[in-house]
Amino acid sequence: MNRLLFFIFSFQLFITQIYTEQCELTLNDETQLTFNTFLQAKKFCSSISLPTKNTRRIILTGRLVDYTTRCKRSITDANIEIIHIQSDLRSVCHELHHPDSRGSYTLSTFVTIPSTERLFLRITSPGYETVLKEIIIPSSEKRQKNIILKWQIALTPSQEQIETYQQQQGRMDSTIDDLMSKMTLEEKIGQLNLVTVGFDVTGPIVSENVDENIRLGRIGGVFNTFTPKAVRPLQELAMNHTRLRIPLIFGYDVIHGHRTIFPISLGMSTTWDMASIETSARIAAQEATADGLNWVFSPMVDIARDARWGRISEGAGEDPWLGSQIAAAMIRGYQGSDLTQSNTAMACVKHFALYGGAEAGRDYNTVDMSRITMYQYFLAPYRAAIDAGAGSVMTSFNEVDSVPASANRWLLQDLLREQWKFNGFVVTDYTSINEMVDHGIGDLQEVSARALDAGVDMDMVGEGFLKTLNKSFSEGKIKEQIINQACRRILEAKYKLGLFDDPYRYCDDSRPDTDIFTNENRLAARDFARRSFVLLKTDRKTLPLARSNLNIALIGPLADDHRNLIGSWSAAGDWRQSVSVREGINKLVGSQTQILYAKGSNLVEDEYMLKQLNAHGGEIELDPRTPEQMIAEAVEISTRSDVIVAVIGESQGMTGEAASRVDIGLPECQKLLLKALFDTGKPVVIVLMNGRPMTLKWEQEHAAAILETWFAGTEAGNAIAEVLFGLYNPAGKLTTTFPQHVGQIPLYYNHKNTGRPFNASQFTDKYKSRYLDIPNEPLYPFGYGLSYTTFNFSSINVDKTELRGDSDRLTVRVLIRNTGAYSGEEVIQLYISDPAASVTRAVRELKNFKKIYLRSQQSEEISFVITTEDLKFYNTNLDYIWEEGDFIIHVGPDSVNTQSIRVKWLK
Ligand code: BGC
Repeated sequence: MNRLLFFIFSFQLFITQIYTEQCELTLNDETQLTFNTFLQAKKFCSSISLPTKNTRRIILTGRLVDYTTRCKRSITDANIEIIHIQSDLRSVCHELHHPDSRGSYTLSTFVTIPSTERLFLRITSPGYETVLKEIIIPSSEKRQKNIILKWQIALTPSQEQIETYQQQQGRMDSTIDDLMSKMTLEEKIGQLNLVTVGFDVTGPIVSENVDENIRLGRIGGVFNTFTPKAVRPLQELAMNHTRLRIPLIFGYDVIHGHRTIFPISLGMSTTWDMASIETSARIAAQEATADGLNWVFSPMVDIARDARWGRISEGAGEDPWLGSQIAAAMIRGYQGSDLTQSNTAMACVKHFALYGGAEAGRDYNTVDMSRITMYQYFLAPYRAAIDAGAGSVMTSFNEVDSVPASANRWLLQDLLREQWKFNGFVVTDYTSINEMVDHGIGDLQEVSARALDAGVDMDMVGEGFLKTLNKSFSEGKIKEQIINQACRRILEAKYKLGLFDDPYRYCDDSRPDTDIFTNENRLAARDFARRSFVLLKTDRKTLPLARSNLNIALIGPLADDHRNLIGSWSAAGDWRQSVSVREGINKLVGSQTQILYAKGSNLVEDEYMLKQLNAHGGEIELDPRTPEQMIAEAVEISTRSDVIVAVIGESQGMTGEAASRVDIGLPECQKLLLKALFDTGKPVVIVLMNGRPMTLKWEQEHAAAILETWFAGTEAGNAIAEVLFGLYNPAGKLTTTFPQHVGQIPLYYNHKNTGRPFNASQFTDKYKSRYLDIPNEPLYPFGYGLSYTTFNFSSINVDKTELRGDSDRLTVRVLIRNTGAYSGEEVIQLYISDPAASVTRAVRELKNFKKIYLRSQQSEEISFVITTEDLKFYNTNLDYIWEEGDFIIHVGPDSVNTQSIRVKWLK
């Protein structure tokens, strides 16, 4: 029996390896864990018995954290051991594990029930007290084959560690006290001024006399300048020509990669893969800091429910829970565990707050929402970023409760600093102090004083602080203590970045060659890209395409394009280095397959749109041929092919900042092309590139398959080829709802029920919340995404249906089976509804998910542990509480196709 089991495991491992080599699919952690833990246990613990009927697998999972620095800090350097001790107190074995780069651990061991041994968890980490905890299996769990215990473990620093913290804090305080005691008021105000100069223009005006102002000590930081070569002379001006030699901080919009460009942020979010998201930020920080920078204006964590808003492309979608996980992962990635390292950068969470709520999806427009909606649906990701230790926050352009964010004391003081305990610094967005004059709350002197008083520490570009604070001070309108406080926060940031020790630590001329645009970074970019793709439609026979003996018509204005692939906000990325779809396909299958290419149409022909796009680097050249001639060529090659791959969508400039649209469909000229392609009767695979949810109802009806690829970055073409030809099975899931029609917007999955909910089966009912012309449903819901394979979800199994109190736990189990012919990943999503509460609740809310990899015909039981934390919401007093009653738990592959079960949870 033992030999048989071992043979099965070895065989599975063997298959996995073959598959991995052939298809470059990597096993995900969970799957790997099963084998590795088993093999490891076998190797080190000879007395451990192989699984039998009474064997239970105990899976311990959670994070190691340190709360002493106020912000939760992950502990990554630790030994985690499971110790089995026989009843005669003889230790039978140790199994050693380590947390990952996020402090997360998952480890498992086998025990026999009833057990003759006791299990302990021991954690040792340098600088912390050792933790020894007995692992007691709850009796309700004993019958389960897999017993999951979720433990977040807080380690207590040793006395020595506490002293080190205190010393560090003390050293910082005394350095800054000493420095500030020498600073004049003008020099202090100078620190609050951030200017733009250099390679990029990201706003309506640019700073002037920068060199001169640095020399005069009137500048605290610079952005849009990078490369050690360009940064060093500016830093030298500050270090060699100012009285107090205070170093400058150097920032930039590093949003989805720095030089190696990853998918746009919306695309990264559709990976539902926190490890990839964190790694993408890590690589971006590595490249940015090698390029002279130490401060990144990211993550952008604004929740957005309106696809017309161009900046929906920059965020993580519509869900506050998922957005929070992503925000924290990005902060960990950028800042690492030590900001003084020369390869970590300070993050800047933006745009605080509610920027995504712009009315009518028009950028910079007014935002108006109730406090409870803010707390319940919009604020969580900012908070998560702050809890993860974000060093800075950027204000938003919009107003919050009728006061612009940059002068909103409630927002920046009461909420951010008092409730959330933020201790970094606040910078405005680009000229947003000056823009408060247009908002209508005062002249420049007035709005600058209000911004400082509200809690802004640094003024981006507008120079309102520089020009008016001194005057306001002498007129008694602001106190010196507030200027001191803002100045101190900027100096602290510089201190934390290690700039007082070495102002040139990010100006190492040798690093660009070794750290930037490396092969590894490009491979990572390719992997993130293919993980971000969402298969919106498949007829299950056209894709994946055969790698040989196939005639392909590759058509579309984006099929051979480079300019648009890196998307908007692509930092220092060079689009010329990106791989087009045509190049990617040719490289992969060009020798075995016939690929005929035609552009088919222009990207856009509408003159109003074209002029605007080209005025800001769109570089869209109109083809000299008529639309009819281009379409005729595309149709001609299609008739000679087996399948059409149409690469179409938006140009990169059609989303991003100041890029709102009212029509979120494909541009008309591309629709004409598509119609002609559909008319050929050949199967059409649409490869979409875009930065927002689009209206695709007609396309959905006629295409054989639709692959959403966003703007996938430097490696877009290679990644798209790998997915089209089945080297990677797409597994992305939407993080924004795709409407059927633009008139449905705002449309989001976590909406309220209303008092007259519409029931589609009684669609002639008049007095219901609905439209007369189309159903309420979206085209593709939140969480949606298909695969080349199929997954079957068993019905939900819960360990109890009645629970009581805060310490109770609900375990939800579902068996997932890969019922198709391909290996693939599935995202198992858990939603909770609270059908009766003191305030109205969303119809359902995402509370957890797991992404698993299953080979064809393989099954895996997935469990989620629900605690009362998952039931909490804000009541009318804005207390974060849970109320007893019924709850409905939903599990499924998206937010609509779920299985549900009702439980009762009492106080
Ligand atoms: C944007 C910010 C950006 C800043 C600096 C502003 O226009 O709203 O997201 O960080 O410019 O480039």
